[in-house]
Amino acid sequence: MEISEQRIKIAVQKTGRLTDHSLDLLERCGLKFIQSKDQLFCYGENMPVDLLLVRDDDIPGLVSEDVCDLGIVGQNIVEEKRFALEQAGSTACYDQVFELDFGHCRLSLAAPENAEFSGVDSLQGKRIATSYVATLQDYLSRNSIEAETVYFSGAVEIAPRLGKADFICDLVSSGATLTANHLTEVETILESEAVIIQTREPLSDEKQEWVNRILQRLDGVLQVRESKYIMLHAPRSALDEISALLPGSEYPTIIPLDGQGDRVAVHAVCKESIFWETLENLKAAGASSLLVLPVEKMLA
Ligand code: PRP
Ligand code: ZN
Repeated sequence: MEISEQRIKIAVQKTGRLTDHSLDLLERCGLKFIQSKDQLFCYGENMPVDLLLVRDDDIPGLVSEDVCDLGIVGQNIVEEKRFALEQAGSTACYDQVFELDFGHCRLSLAAPENAEFSGVDSLQGKRIATSYVATLQDYLSRNSIEAETVYFSGAVEIAPRLGKADFICDLVSSGATLTANHLTEVETILESEAVIIQTREPLSDEKQEWVNRILQRLDGVLQVRESKYIMLHAPRSALDEISALLPGSEYPTIIPLDGQGDRVAVHAVCKESIFWETLENLKAAGASSLLVLPVEKMLA
């Protein structure tokens, strides 16, 4: 296996909340890869695309420095790096391309169960432990709060028990970590999900073409998740009403039915879930022979 300059490199979290979903998403884009023995590198077998498995905190830096062309990372990390660069008078060298609809979590303030908290002002003059110093600083200054931020690189939730902080500011997903540490979520600072970021460095035409292809496939994978293909028969006179009932569909295909007079077949891709209620409403509008199918792949 050689690491070639001409191959696309995508940074993915090595072990953590985003790892399995990130790899699964890339597999669904058609990428087949073999993992290196040290598990730090995945070689793409069927496309000129390799994956670098790294700490999530390092992903924006790697994409910024053009070591990787793309990265899959939480918005929480992207925002933290952006605030840190902003506060240092600099800007990031990558763009967030789109949200990936997994890894949903939030950056929140939490207080020990017995602590007093009656709103943001309760933070005045207090110590807050966090790994998200820049995001927290931004939040505090926006709310005109003077508080001390105490940096913890991990295990932030034990800071109050160690007497190191009065509050914490950390990621919350299920809330289990907070509960286990007798902490209560009191304020959300940032909502987050996984996103794909792309370097701003210009790429060779060949690489750019592959990046475009990967992004287009990712977009397709995300779109089909909710999408359904619906087929039904209906009288031509009811088409306006029926089209209006199809959730998130663009132009349905209308096919005449041989020997059925005024009745036509309607085929459409709906980009939203189709509930039983929708089918019942369609039937009430004159539709029959309703069939809903999953969509496997889509290319706009
Ligand atoms: C976050 C956070 C908590 C945990 C919260 O860590 O620091 O430890 O997840 O999740 P829960 O609400 O479901 O209990 P993360 O997975 O981001 O790991 P990292 O901070 O080590 O990158
Ligand atoms: Zn991390």
